[in-house]
Parts: sequence; C-alpha cells; structure tokens
Amino acid sequence: MAALAAPGSGMPLVGREAELRLLGEALGDALEGRGGLRLLAGEPGIGKTRLAEAVAEEARHRGAAVARGAAWDGGGAPALWPWTEALRALRPELPEPDERLRLALGPLWQGAAEPAPA
Ligand SMILES: Nc1ncnc2c1ncn2[C@@H]1O[C@H](COP(=O)(O)OP(=O)(O)OP(=O)(O)O)[C@@H](O)[C@H]1O
Ligand SMILES: [Mg+2]
Repeated sequence: MAALAAPGSGMPLVGREAELRLLGEALGDALEGRGGLRLLAGEPGIGKTRLAEAVAEEARHRGAAVARGAAWDGGGAPALWPWTEALRALRPELPEPDERLRLALGPLWQGAAEPAPA
C-alpha cells in the first residue's frame, strides 16, 4: 500500500508504508478475532492522527466497525472519557451485554447510553 488519501484532506498520505503494513496486519488479526492494542506515539504534528485516520478508513473498507474517542486537551473530562465516547458510537449496533460483560464494563456501559456533555 503506497499511499492512502486521508479523509477530508484531499492530499495523499506520504510514506508510512511500513506503519500501514504493520497496522494492516493488526487489523487483519482483529477481523479474525484476535484483538490487540497498537499505540502511535511521536512528536506533535508528526502525523499520528493522520495515520490513525488512514487505518480507520482501511478498517471501514474491510468491514470493521470503527469508533473514535478523544481526550480533552484542557482536562476536566469524565473518567475514561475516550472509551465512553467510542462505546457511545458503537452501542446502538451492539447487543445488550450479558451479566459478565456488564460487570466488566462497569459504569462505561451506562455512561455510553447518556447524552454527550455539551
Ligand atoms: N504522512 C503524511 N503525509 C502527508 N501529510 C501528513 C502526513 N503525516 C501528517 N501529515 C499532515 O501533517 C499535519 C499534522 O499531522 P497530524 O495532525 O496527524 O499530527 P499529530 O501527530 O496527530 O499531531 P498532534 O500531536 O498535534 O496531535 C496534518 O496536516 C497532516 O495531514
Ligand atoms: Mg493528533
């Protein structure tokens, strides 16, 4: 995969072939039921969000449900806010969790049912 257009930018993603390959493999694993976590870290402006958007776009093309949660720059966000935000987007498509999953999710599941703060 040489380049992917980032949504909304109109400009191609330059380079990042190695990262896209690794993340594409992780995506393949996830689609086959082997979940995992990948962390993008780097200097401000280095392209973390852009790369994440490109992978999210690929994930959508490959049939994955994609949700996004973001921390607040200024602080003061509710606990676990990015997870609540991501779960809120997915919740309408998800079945009700069984007792075990509900316990594991704790207040996250209920929080994902409440309206987003203004
Ligand atoms: N590989 C790339 N090819 C083309 N443009 C890129 C690439 N990586 C980043 N950019 C562009 O550079 C700018 C900064 O990228 P981005 O916002 O993804 O950085 P970031 O690491 O998420 O920054 P921050 O740490 O501030 O959140 C954006 O305009 C983005 O479109
Ligand atoms: Mg960013």
